[in-house]
Amino acid sequence: MATVTFLKSGVSAVWTGEHDNLLELAEAEGLSLDFGCRMGNCTACQQRLVSGEVAYPEGHDGVPDDGNILLCCSIPVGNVEIDA
Ligand code: FES
Repeated sequence: MATVTFLKSGVSAVWTGEHDNLLELAEAEGLSLDFGCRMGNCTACQQRLVSGEVAYPEGHDGVPDDGNILLCCSIPVGNVEIDA
């Protein structure tokens, strides 16, 4: 289990694996964050990863290379802090 902190929203949530990705976790916590395709293609869901690490499904490409992450298709690897 990992703690996911959405810094701007002031929300911390425990990642239990119950959700498919970080966007779903955020929504379950009541956050309204931008999204589009929910498939990793449009980058509308990108947010800055402040600390920690995330993983994407095998074979996923198009991950931002500037420290941002795509919430719709990533999961935390340990505790993470997201600027959202
Ligand atoms: S919603 Fe389109 S890349 Fe995440």
